[in-house]
Order: sequence, then structure tokens, then C-alpha cells
Amino acid sequence: MKRINRSVILFLLLLAFAGCKYDFILEEEAPPVDPSGPEISYATQIQPIFNAGCVGCHKAGATPPNLVSGSSYAAINTSKYINTSTPAESGIYKVPGPTGTTHRHKTYTASEAALILGWIQQGAKNN
Ligand code: HEC
Repeated sequence: MKRINRSVILFLLLLAFAGCKYDFILEEEAPPVDPSGPEISYATQIQPIFNAGCVGCHKAGATPPNLVSGSSYAAINTSKYINTSTPAESGIYKVPGPTGTTHRHKTYTASEAALILGWIQQGAKNN
């Protein structure tokens, strides 16, 4: 009798724990970038992303676009890389971005991607 009681309790405990579902969020959460919020600066917020992760390959005489400071804005200021009417379709956002599937070399972190997208949504200014 005691045995049965234990099994019943064990079974109920198991059911109770099986009912708990844990969702572990492992990805870095992107801070929301409000396009109508403070202006994102190309020189102080976007260029440093390129300096840190891109210019090793994207420089003069190497793989375009040239993302080196001083050359980068002119290099990406074309419809191929910047699409202000559909910002998420911009090459400079999309290729190394969260949905990019072709650029195996380097991808933006979630917060870098959010900054790039926000900057394009604000008109992709050379500010
Ligand atoms: C290890 C070298 C390497 C690094 C680092 C790198 N890229 Fe690239 N990237 C390439 C190569 C090579 C290509 C050409 C296409 C391919 O092979 O995927 C490319 C292609 C691209 C393209 C598409 C170019 C076109 O005209 O179609 C964009 C945009 C781009 N990279 C942006 C970036 C950005 C932004 C970073 C930094 C976050 C970065 N890349 C870091 C090597 C690199």
C-alpha cells in the first residue's frame, strides 16, 4: 500500500514538473532603436562598427565596399547598399545582418544591426 502511494506521488510530481516549460533566450536582445529618437551618428556610432569588424577585408584594393573611415560613406551611399524606402532591404544592413545568408565572414551583433537599421531609417545621413 505504501509503495503505491509513493508511486502515485512520484507520478503526480513528474506531471507537475513536466508542465513547466522554460524558454531560455540565448540570443543577445537588440535594444530597440527608435527611428524618431535621438539621431544616430554615422561618424561616432556606425563607422566604429566597420572599424572593429569589417575593414580587415573591406578596404581599398580588396573586397568592396571599402568600409575604411573617410571612404566608407561614399562607398555605401548607393542603392545597392542603402534603401531608405525599405531600410531592411539595404545591402549594408542585410548582407551581414540577422537575416543575411550570403555573407559567411562576419555578422553584426543584434545591437549593431539595430543601430545600422535605425541609422538607415533616419535617412542614412553622413552625420
Ligand atoms: C573575413 C573577411 C570579411 C569580413 C571581416 C567582412 N566581410 Fe563583407 N564580404 C567579404 C567578402 C569576401 C565578400 C564578397 C562576397 C562573399 O564572398 O560573401 C563580402 C561581401 C560583403 C557585402 C556585399 C558586397 C556586394 O557588393 O555585394 C557587404 C555589404 C559586406 N560584405 C559588408 C560587411 C560588413 C558591414 C562587415 C563588418 C561587419 C563585413 N562585411 C566583414 C569578406 C568579409
